[in-house]
Amino acid sequence: MRRKFMAGNWKMHKTIAEATAYARELVDRLGGESARIMIAPPFTALAAVGATVKGSNIQLGAQNCAPELSGAHTGEVSLSMLKECGVNVVILGHSERRHVYLETDELVNRKVKLALSEGCDVILCVGETESERDKGVTEKVVKQQVKEGLQGVSAEELKRVVIAYEPVWAIGTGKNATPQDANAVHVFIRRLIAEIYDPGVAERLVIQYGGSVKPGNVKELMAEENIDGALVGGASLSAEQFVPIVQAGRS
Ligand code: PGA
Repeated sequence: MRRKFMAGNWKMHKTIAEATAYARELVDRLGGESARIMIAPPFTALAAVGATVKGSNIQLGAQNCAPELSGAHTGEVSLSMLKECGVNVVILGHSERRHVYLETDELVNRKVKLALSEGCDVILCVGETESERDKGVTEKVVKQQVKEGLQGVSAEELKRVVIAYEPVWAIGTGKNATPQDANAVHVFIRRLIAEIYDPGVAERLVIQYGGSVKPGNVKELMAEENIDGALVGGASLSAEQFVPIVQAGRS
């Protein structure tokens, strides 16, 4: 049985003061949970939240990282800067990065390899848009994002990679894939990983679902055999919603 991984992506929400108070509440309320837990505040709150969650069962994630380690890269944040705040997981290839900020698979892959070589775990996000789903090319799109995102990543390194399947049409829209539809794509991803690497590696891989996960739908999603956790946006912003979501990951 794969341990569930429940992660919150706060996106561009919360000031340092708000983020710290909220992180403290989560530390207090999620102490005994069996799932792996991560929160990813905005960059400006990472240091303060990192100090708040230090020593707890909540890991600190970053929402992105620079594809270089240092230098003249205006507006970017390096992995060493993130690690200094206590970050040990980086979300890469999120659909907002791909579709709004035009990140390519090649750029995502550079970040994936750099994050792994710097000792961070990676959540690699993949998923089709609504028009791609309508055209019936979901598997083709997901295959390309997985293959190119993981180009040059060894089987050993893959142990520190989580894949998040997030259909773009379900993110922040209130629409979500049915648990069965999501599970079918998760099965497809696991088979693909078995082909690229080997069945043992594929069996261990944690595949999260993301896209309008809420307290009301999380249990049925987590009941699917190949859904190993959730990457949560909107509903990760309040304890009222995020605490029951994390509890749905209990083993
Ligand atoms: P959502 O976002 O839960 O608000 O749909 C999910 C995500 O973007 O990871």
